[in-house]
Amino acid sequence: MDKTAKISYDDKSIDLPLITGTENERAIDIAALRGSTKIVTLDPGYGNTGSCKSEITYIDGEKGILRYRGYSVEDLCENSNFIEVCYLLIHGELPTAETLEQFSHKISNHTMVHEDIRKFYDAFPSHAHPMALLSSVVCSLSVFYQDSINPTDPNDVEISIFRLIAKITTIASYSYKTSIGQPLNYPDNSLDYSSNFLNMMFRIPCEDYEVDPDIAKALDLLFILHADHEQNCSTSTVRLVGSSQANIFAAVSAAICALWGPRHGGANQEVIKMLEWINKDGGNVKKYVEFAKDRENPFRLMGFGHRVYKNFDPRARIIKSYCDKILNKLGVNDPLLDIAKQLEEVALNDDYFKEKKLYPNVDFYSGIIYRAIGFPVDMFTVLFAIGRMPGWLAHWKEMMSDPKSKIGRPRQIYTGSTERKYIPMHKRTES
Ligand code: CMC
Repeated sequence: MDKTAKISYDDKSIDLPLITGTENERAIDIAALRGSTKIVTLDPGYGNTGSCKSEITYIDGEKGILRYRGYSVEDLCENSNFIEVCYLLIHGELPTAETLEQFSHKISNHTMVHEDIRKFYDAFPSHAHPMALLSSVVCSLSVFYQDSINPTDPNDVEISIFRLIAKITTIASYSYKTSIGQPLNYPDNSLDYSSNFLNMMFRIPCEDYEVDPDIAKALDLLFILHADHEQNCSTSTVRLVGSSQANIFAAVSAAICALWGPRHGGANQEVIKMLEWINKDGGNVKKYVEFAKDRENPFRLMGFGHRVYKNFDPRARIIKSYCDKILNKLGVNDPLLDIAKQLEEVALNDDYFKEKKLYPNVDFYSGIIYRAIGFPVDMFTVLFAIGRMPGWLAHWKEMMSDPKSKIGRPRQIYTGSTERKYIPMHKRTES
């Protein structure tokens, strides 16, 4: 039952529609606010702002629930695979066996990149961060496919979606191989998505390399867990850039840059650096929990806290449960896992973290698995980007197909100088 909300200001008031989502989330629809009142809302960081209606992902941050198109991530991790989840996110329903086969085949068809792209890697510095390479090369796809980048043409959109899901692993593996001076591997379309990526990453021409199916499964699971997270910073970037009708490669490239920051996807890299530091410093986790609480100290516990989750991030719970399994399977005894567990225990029993409802997030344990598989720390955020690709594409598509969608263009409250006269140089004084 939708109602209205009354907003009073000066000696006036206005009734605005209250809208309710399918999970009973409520919002005041302020679309008519400025037109009727000349007043805007101010919400730095958008913590109280719904930027759109969306049917893709539901999060209940208090209960620790995450569902893609209605299916819980736990259920999908148990029963699905990453390519099926890509289909689900982008198309809204689970595919039939035949549709999944066709979808999967179309992705495999596009795994190679233009040979000229390989030459880019000769020009970039070998120590370049792979997120910089990823974003640049993804944007450059718009140069290679100039005949099919019209964001309003359904055929161009369909093929671009296949290209992005398919090529991101090839592009990612090229930056790794370049950084260590090894030859680049071509994709092998006989392998499934995650196995093909592992093969491109770790095969060297002079030795046999067999992808371990358990490791490929673990990576696939991590991709599922990163696949979407509603209106986070990078997804909002895809929507914002896409709303100007820039091509999809440009919008995704911008999202990769947004993901790179340490408060977003870059946190997975920072977690491992932090755990290594604590380990080198003697493993005193309490000391670092105290640092994180100290307002004078800029240090934060990386991999802790979330804008939406005020409970355990369900993704962190699943990843944590896989850590021991994967490390055992690989015969790895990583002291960082013990430090992470101790850190979690101390933080979760600390009043500061309890009061602020700061729990481990998706990035807290993922790096320990990536590291055990053999990925270098610099590649961790790239792995997040590979997993997040279907979410970005689903949101881009939803935004573009909404007839009410407009260019994203927030307002501001101006707090600068009022009008003043230009001062000639000779009359200016130091302030
Ligand atoms: N360690 C110590 N204190 C923290 C932390 C932390 N990791 N996270 C938040 N706080 C404190 C913060 O200082 C603030 O305290 P006060 O109210 O006294 O000023 C309070 O908790 C609220 O923090 P906030 O920064 O206002 O909250 P936010 O919703 O704007 O930020 C966050 C969310 C994820 C950016 C933040 O928790 C953070 O910086 N965490 C560490 C980085 C991280 O792990 N990022 C990955 C997020 S999950 C993956 C993804 O989706 O990208």
